Amino acid sequence: MNKSSQLVQGNLLAILADSQFHSGEVLGKSLGISRAAISNHIKELSSLGLDIYKVTGKGYRVARPLTLLNLEKIKERVAGACTADIEVLNVIGSTNQYLKEKLPEVKNGHTCLAEAQTAGRGRHGRKWVSPYGSSLYMSMGWSFSGGYSALGGLSLAVGVALVGALHHCGIQGVQLKWPNDIYAKGKKLAGVLIEVEGQIDSLCQAIIGIGLNVSLPSNVDEIDQPWTDLSQLITATVDRNLLASALISELHRSLTLFEESGLEPFINKWRALDIYANQGIKLIIGKQTITGISRGIDSTGAILIETKQGIEAYHGGEISVRPL
Ligand code: ATP
Ligand code: BTN
Repeated sequence: MNKSSQLVQGNLLAILADSQFHSGEVLGKSLGISRAAISNHIKELSSLGLDIYKVTGKGYRVARPLTLLNLEKIKERVAGACTADIEVLNVIGSTNQYLKEKLPEVKNGHTCLAEAQTAGRGRHGRKWVSPYGSSLYMSMGWSFSGGYSALGGLSLAVGVALVGALHHCGIQGVQLKWPNDIYAKGKKLAGVLIEVEGQIDSLCQAIIGIGLNVSLPSNVDEIDQPWTDLSQLITATVDRNLLASALISELHRSLTLFEESGLEPFINKWRALDIYANQGIKLIIGKQTITGISRGIDSTGAILIETKQGIEAYHGGEISVRPL
């Protein structure tokens, strides 16, 4: 999308954000463009997942009030992190990819957020559904001097940080699923994707991506597993700018701590949030499935499963955990 289209769409969204009806004619006059041009911009925003509809004689209306991401509002409340390195983007392929392309210049804490992703990704190349204005899509860069081995358990520490930020915003009832998922009411609320570049045994740079559903359009049908969002957890409208500030502050604090002390300060908190603690689970490792009782995590962040052979630890990114 070119810069002038982005500007028009930003102004259009600012008018539509109140979730009231606005006629094509009035919108066109306010923005100095034709009704046909308004209609095209609305189509484009709809194709990016914005929940917007048209009623003949009344005009266009977004289904729920929108609070667009606002860099100044986010910066106001960020504690501890360098606010110069926060970027708010409109539509992007993937915030992780965006930061990856800026490596190696990305400083610790450099963060980008976007209103929508057209190629949002999860683990193993799976898709992260990323409709416009309804979630947080955020990535933060951080370097680690100890190589890849210093990153063991990082996704667990990030999960704990994410829950801390939600608590800070008054949102309770969230749990963690090893190694990278955040659940509420038994459904997926958020996911963490950590991508690493650099030297295996010395300096490496991690891009830490978080997708957190805030208020997804009710007609999202591409997510092939049960999902939830914050609007189903609390009645108050969630201010995404407040949430973004809390998340940036908490991640900054947690990554600093992780760099100094590793996973140890996060372990007990992770255990207290473990969705499958002492329950029957299966580990899917390629074609192999191991069935047993989940016994939490060890000091390195490996998952512990109890089978007839005793308790065994499993590491590694290729493992998926499922309930029995
Ligand atoms: P694993 O246990 O291996 O992590 P997973 O199904 O959670 O399994 P991930 O790669 O972590 O897999 O996450 C990607 C999956 O998340 C997608 O395949 C889809 O099922 C689901 N998903 C995609 N977008 C969303 C979203 N916005 N909200 C919730 N879930 C989503
Ligand atoms: C998962 O559950 O597999 C992780 C999902 C991570 C999604 C986030 S959204 C921001 C960042 N950019 C991406 O393309 N992915 C992550």
